[in-house]
Amino acid sequence: MATLPVARTVKALRAEVSRWRASDERVALVPTMGALHPGHISLVKAAQRKAKRVVVSIFVNPAQFAPTEDFSKYPRTFANDRAMLAVAQADLIFAPTVEEMYPEGFATTISLDGPAKAGLEDAFRPTHFAGVATVVGKLFTQCAPDFALFGEKDYQQLKVVTRMARDLDLPVKVIGAPTVRETDGVAMSSRNRYLSETERAAAAAIPRVMKETAEQIRGGASLSTALKRGRAALEKAGFSIDYLEARNADTLAQPKRGGGEKLRLLFAGKIGTTRLIDNIAV
Ligand code: PAF
Repeated sequence: MATLPVARTVKALRAEVSRWRASDERVALVPTMGALHPGHISLVKAAQRKAKRVVVSIFVNPAQFAPTEDFSKYPRTFANDRAMLAVAQADLIFAPTVEEMYPEGFATTISLDGPAKAGLEDAFRPTHFAGVATVVGKLFTQCAPDFALFGEKDYQQLKVVTRMARDLDLPVKVIGAPTVRETDGVAMSSRNRYLSETERAAAAAIPRVMKETAEQIRGGASLSTALKRGRAALEKAGFSIDYLEARNADTLAQPKRGGGEKLRLLFAGKIGTTRLIDNIAV
Protein backbone atom coordinates (compact mmCIF):
# COMPACT_ATOMS: atom_id res chain seq x y z
CA MET A 1 0.00 0.00 0.00
CA ALA A 2 1.36 3.44 -0.93
CA THR A 3 2.12 5.67 2.08
CA LEU A 4 -0.38 8.37 2.69
CA PRO A 5 1.07 11.83 1.96
CA VAL A 6 1.39 14.34 4.80
CA ALA A 7 1.33 18.12 4.35
CA ARG A 8 3.11 19.90 7.20
CA THR A 9 2.58 23.45 5.93
CA VAL A 10 -0.41 25.48 4.76
CA LYS A 11 1.45 26.05 1.47
CA ALA A 12 1.78 22.29 0.84
CA LEU A 13 -1.87 21.72 1.77
CA ARG A 14 -3.06 24.46 -0.59
CA ALA A 15 -0.86 23.17 -3.43
CA GLU A 16 -2.45 19.71 -3.19
CA VAL A 17 -6.00 21.06 -2.86
CA SER A 18 -5.41 23.36 -5.88
CA ARG A 19 -4.34 20.36 -7.98
CA TRP A 20 -7.63 18.61 -7.12
CA ARG A 21 -9.64 21.76 -7.78
CA ALA A 22 -8.01 22.05 -11.20
CA SER A 23 -9.61 18.66 -12.02
CA ASP A 24 -12.92 19.84 -10.61
CA GLU A 25 -12.74 17.45 -7.64
CA ARG A 26 -14.70 18.21 -4.51
CA VAL A 27 -12.90 18.24 -1.18
CA ALA A 28 -14.03 17.23 2.31
CA LEU A 29 -12.13 17.96 5.53
CA VAL A 30 -12.19 15.82 8.67
CA PRO A 31 -10.59 17.86 11.49
CA THR A 32 -9.09 15.70 14.27
CA MET A 33 -6.57 15.85 17.05
CA GLY A 34 -5.29 12.38 16.15
CA ALA A 35 -5.46 9.38 18.51
CA LEU A 36 -7.82 8.03 15.91
CA HIS A 37 -10.40 5.33 16.58
CA PRO A 38 -13.22 3.83 14.48
CA GLY A 39 -15.38 6.91 15.22
CA HIS A 40 -12.92 9.06 13.24
CA ILE A 41 -12.78 6.50 10.45
CA SER A 42 -16.58 6.65 10.17
CA LEU A 43 -16.15 10.42 9.56
CA VAL A 44 -13.65 9.67 6.79
CA LYS A 45 -16.13 7.24 5.24
CA ALA A 46 -18.94 9.82 5.49
CA ALA A 47 -16.60 12.40 3.91
CA GLN A 48 -15.84 10.02 1.02
CA ARG A 49 -19.56 9.75 0.31
CA LYS A 50 -19.63 13.54 -0.14
CA ALA A 51 -16.40 14.34 -1.96
CA LYS A 52 -13.79 12.70 -4.19
CA ARG A 53 -10.92 13.96 -2.00
CA VAL A 54 -10.65 13.74 1.76
CA VAL A 55 -8.15 15.66 3.89
CA VAL A 56 -7.79 14.65 7.53
CA SER A 57 -6.15 17.23 9.76
CA ILE A 58 -4.24 16.00 12.80
CA PHE A 59 -3.41 18.82 15.15
CA VAL A 60 -3.53 18.80 18.94
CA ASN A 61 -4.69 22.37 19.32
CA PRO A 62 -3.18 24.04 22.39
CA ALA A 63 -5.69 26.91 22.18
CA GLN A 64 -8.60 24.69 23.23
CA PHE A 65 -6.95 23.31 26.38
CA ALA A 66 -7.03 25.25 29.63
CA PRO A 67 -3.74 25.30 31.59
CA THR A 68 -5.25 22.72 33.98
CA GLU A 69 -6.22 20.35 31.13
CA ASP A 70 -4.40 17.51 29.44
CA PHE A 71 -2.67 19.17 26.42
CA SER A 72 0.75 17.65 27.06
CA LYS A 73 -0.79 14.32 28.10
CA TYR A 74 -3.14 14.17 25.10
CA PRO A 75 -2.34 10.93 23.23
CA ARG A 76 -0.17 11.42 20.15
CA THR A 77 -0.19 8.31 17.96
CA PHE A 78 0.77 9.66 14.53
CA ALA A 79 2.22 6.47 13.00
CA ASN A 80 -0.87 4.50 13.94
CA ASP A 81 -3.20 7.31 12.78
CA ARG A 82 -1.43 7.44 9.42
CA ALA A 83 -1.72 3.68 8.97
CA MET A 84 -5.44 3.76 9.82
CA LEU A 85 -6.04 6.61 7.36
CA ALA A 86 -4.10 4.78 4.64
CA VAL A 87 -6.37 1.76 5.09
CA ALA A 88 -9.42 4.08 5.03
CA GLN A 89 -8.04 5.58 1.78
CA ALA A 90 -7.97 9.20 2.87
CA ASP A 91 -6.12 11.36 0.35
CA LEU A 92 -3.99 13.63 2.52
CA ILE A 93 -3.08 14.25 6.15
CA PHE A 94 -2.58 17.86 7.16
CA ALA A 95 -0.40 17.79 10.26
CA PRO A 96 1.00 21.26 10.90
CA THR A 97 3.27 22.23 13.79
CA VAL A 98 2.06 24.57 16.52
CA GLU A 99 4.35 27.27 15.02
CA GLU A 100 2.74 26.83 11.59
CA MET A 101 -0.75 27.31 13.05
CA TYR A 102 0.13 29.96 15.65
CA PRO A 103 3.19 31.83 14.41
CA GLU A 104 4.98 34.37 16.61
CA GLY A 105 2.67 37.34 17.19
CA PHE A 106 -0.57 35.42 16.59
CA ALA A 107 -3.25 37.58 18.24
CA THR A 108 -6.71 36.70 16.90
CA THR A 109 -9.45 34.63 18.49
CA ILE A 110 -12.98 34.02 17.24
CA SER A 111 -15.46 35.31 19.79
CA LEU A 112 -18.65 33.28 20.18
CA ASP A 113 -22.15 33.48 21.54
CA GLY A 114 -25.30 31.36 21.05
CA PRO A 115 -24.65 27.62 21.34
CA ALA A 116 -21.13 28.32 22.65
CA LYS A 117 -22.66 30.00 25.70
CA ALA A 118 -25.32 27.38 26.49
CA GLY A 119 -24.00 26.67 29.99
CA LEU A 120 -22.92 23.13 29.10
CA GLU A 121 -19.25 22.44 28.22
CA ASP A 122 -18.61 26.20 28.28
CA ALA A 123 -19.56 26.34 31.97
CA PHE A 124 -16.75 23.90 32.79
CA ARG A 125 -14.27 24.83 30.04
CA PRO A 126 -14.78 28.58 29.55
CA THR A 127 -12.00 29.11 26.96
CA HIS A 128 -12.48 25.83 25.08
CA PHE A 129 -14.83 26.82 22.25
CA ALA A 130 -12.96 30.03 21.37
CA GLY A 131 -9.91 27.79 20.84
CA VAL A 132 -11.92 25.25 18.82
CA ALA A 133 -13.60 27.91 16.65
CA THR A 134 -10.31 29.69 16.00
CA VAL A 135 -8.50 26.56 14.87
CA VAL A 136 -11.48 25.26 12.87
CA GLY A 137 -11.90 28.70 11.23
CA LYS A 138 -8.22 28.57 10.26
CA LEU A 139 -8.51 24.99 8.95
CA PHE A 140 -11.52 26.03 6.84
CA THR A 141 -9.65 28.92 5.24
CA GLN A 142 -6.44 26.92 4.82
CA CYS A 143 -8.09 23.90 3.19
CA ALA A 144 -11.17 25.59 1.66
CA PRO A 145 -13.18 22.34 1.74
CA ASP A 146 -16.67 21.94 0.28
CA PHE A 147 -17.65 19.81 3.28
CA ALA A 148 -16.41 19.39 6.83
CA LEU A 149 -17.35 16.40 8.97
CA PHE A 150 -17.73 16.49 12.75
CA GLY A 151 -18.91 13.77 15.10
CA GLU A 152 -22.16 14.24 16.99
CA LYS A 153 -20.29 12.91 20.02
CA ASP A 154 -19.08 16.50 20.59
CA TYR A 155 -22.56 17.83 20.03
CA GLN A 156 -22.04 21.35 21.38
CA GLN A 157 -18.87 21.65 19.28
CA LEU A 158 -20.85 20.60 16.18
CA LYS A 159 -23.44 23.31 16.88
CA VAL A 160 -20.77 25.95 17.59
CA VAL A 161 -18.89 25.20 14.36
CA THR A 162 -22.10 25.07 12.31
CA ARG A 163 -23.16 28.48 13.70
CA MET A 164 -19.70 29.96 13.12
CA ALA A 165 -19.54 28.80 9.48
CA ARG A 166 -23.01 30.25 8.88
CA ASP A 167 -22.34 33.54 10.67
CA LEU A 168 -18.98 34.13 8.96
CA ASP A 169 -20.34 33.07 5.52
CA LEU A 170 -17.66 30.42 5.23
CA PRO A 171 -18.38 28.48 2.02
CA VAL A 172 -18.32 25.04 3.62
CA LYS A 173 -21.15 22.69 4.49
CA VAL A 174 -20.71 21.41 8.05
CA ILE A 175 -22.03 17.87 8.42
CA GLY A 176 -22.60 16.01 11.68
CA ALA A 177 -22.13 12.24 11.74
CA PRO A 178 -23.60 9.83 14.30
CA THR A 179 -21.59 8.79 17.34
CA VAL A 180 -19.88 5.42 16.96
CA ARG A 181 -20.37 3.22 20.02
CA GLU A 182 -18.77 0.14 21.54
CA THR A 183 -20.95 -2.97 21.85
CA ASP A 184 -22.09 -1.91 25.35
CA GLY A 185 -23.14 1.49 24.02
CA VAL A 186 -20.18 3.52 25.33
CA ALA A 187 -19.30 6.30 22.87
CA MET A 188 -15.87 5.87 21.29
CA SER A 189 -13.47 8.53 22.52
CA SER A 190 -9.72 9.06 22.60
CA ARG A 191 -10.11 9.52 26.35
CA ASN A 192 -11.58 6.02 26.98
CA ARG A 193 -8.01 4.69 27.07
CA TYR A 194 -7.54 6.46 30.43
CA LEU A 195 -10.30 4.40 32.09
CA SER A 196 -9.44 1.54 34.45
CA GLU A 197 -11.27 -1.74 33.89
CA THR A 198 -13.81 -0.91 36.61
CA GLU A 199 -14.34 2.63 35.31
CA ARG A 200 -14.74 1.34 31.76
CA ALA A 201 -17.43 -1.10 32.97
CA ALA A 202 -19.17 1.73 34.89
CA ALA A 203 -19.15 3.92 31.76
CA ALA A 204 -21.81 1.67 30.22
CA ALA A 205 -24.24 3.39 32.62
CA ILE A 206 -23.99 6.60 30.55
CA PRO A 207 -25.75 5.38 27.35
CA ARG A 208 -28.10 3.17 29.38
CA VAL A 209 -29.25 5.96 31.71
CA MET A 210 -29.46 8.49 28.88
CA LYS A 211 -31.66 6.09 26.91
CA GLU A 212 -33.92 5.51 29.91
CA THR A 213 -34.12 9.25 30.60
CA ALA A 214 -34.97 10.02 26.96
CA GLU A 215 -37.66 7.32 27.03
CA GLN A 216 -39.19 8.82 30.17
CA ILE A 217 -39.26 12.30 28.59
CA ARG A 218 -40.84 10.93 25.42
CA GLY A 219 -43.32 9.04 27.59
CA GLY A 220 -44.50 12.31 29.16
CA ALA A 221 -42.48 12.50 32.41
CA SER A 222 -41.62 16.07 33.40
CA LEU A 223 -38.10 17.09 32.37
CA SER A 224 -37.10 17.86 35.94
CA THR A 225 -38.27 14.47 37.24
CA ALA A 226 -36.64 12.48 34.42
CA LEU A 227 -33.36 14.40 34.72
CA LYS A 228 -33.31 14.07 38.51
CA ARG A 229 -33.74 10.29 38.20
CA GLY A 230 -31.06 10.13 35.51
CA ARG A 231 -28.57 12.13 37.59
CA ALA A 232 -29.20 9.90 40.63
CA ALA A 233 -28.63 6.75 38.54
CA LEU A 234 -25.35 8.09 37.12
CA GLU A 235 -24.12 9.14 40.54
CA LYS A 236 -24.91 5.66 41.80
CA ALA A 237 -22.81 4.25 38.95
CA GLY A 238 -19.84 6.27 40.26
CA PHE A 239 -19.97 9.50 38.24
CA SER A 240 -19.45 12.96 39.56
CA ILE A 241 -21.80 14.83 37.23
CA ASP A 242 -21.05 18.15 35.54
CA TYR A 243 -24.42 18.13 33.76
CA LEU A 244 -27.23 15.96 32.51
CA GLU A 245 -29.49 18.34 30.61
CA ALA A 246 -32.17 18.31 27.94
CA ARG A 247 -31.79 21.20 25.50
CA ASN A 248 -33.21 22.43 22.21
CA ALA A 249 -31.49 20.15 19.70
CA ASP A 250 -30.54 23.02 17.41
CA THR A 251 -29.82 26.06 19.59
CA LEU A 252 -28.98 24.23 22.84
CA ALA A 253 -31.21 26.76 24.65
CA GLN A 254 -33.29 25.64 27.65
CA PRO A 255 -36.50 23.98 26.42
CA LYS A 256 -39.58 26.20 26.36
CA ARG A 257 -42.55 25.34 28.56
CA GLY A 258 -45.21 23.34 26.73
CA GLY A 259 -42.84 21.11 24.75
CA GLY A 260 -43.16 20.55 21.01
CA GLU A 261 -39.50 21.17 20.19
CA LYS A 262 -36.78 18.69 19.26
CA LEU A 263 -34.61 17.96 22.29
CA ARG A 264 -31.13 16.61 22.84
CA LEU A 265 -29.99 15.02 26.07
CA LEU A 266 -26.40 15.93 26.98
CA PHE A 267 -24.15 14.53 29.68
CA ALA A 268 -20.71 15.30 31.08
CA GLY A 269 -19.17 13.82 34.17
CA LYS A 270 -16.06 12.39 35.70
CA ILE A 271 -15.26 8.88 36.78
CA GLY A 272 -11.95 8.70 38.62
CA THR A 273 -9.83 11.34 36.88
CA THR A 274 -11.39 10.89 33.42
CA ARG A 275 -14.07 13.25 32.14
CA LEU A 276 -16.51 11.74 29.63
CA ILE A 277 -19.22 13.39 27.55
CA ASP A 278 -22.09 11.92 25.57
CA ASN A 279 -25.46 12.90 24.12
CA ILE A 280 -28.47 11.39 22.38
CA ALA A 281 -31.61 12.60 20.64
CA VAL A 282 -34.72 12.58 22.80
O1 PAF B 1 -13.06 17.41 18.05
C1 PAF B 1 -11.82 17.58 17.97
O2 PAF B 1 -11.02 16.66 17.86
C2 PAF B 1 -11.27 19.01 18.00
O3 PAF B 1 -12.00 19.81 18.88
C3 PAF B 1 -11.17 19.67 16.61
C4 PAF B 1 -12.52 19.83 15.98
C5 PAF B 1 -10.28 18.82 15.72
C6 PAF B 1 -10.54 21.06 16.72
O4 PAF B 1 -9.27 21.00 17.28
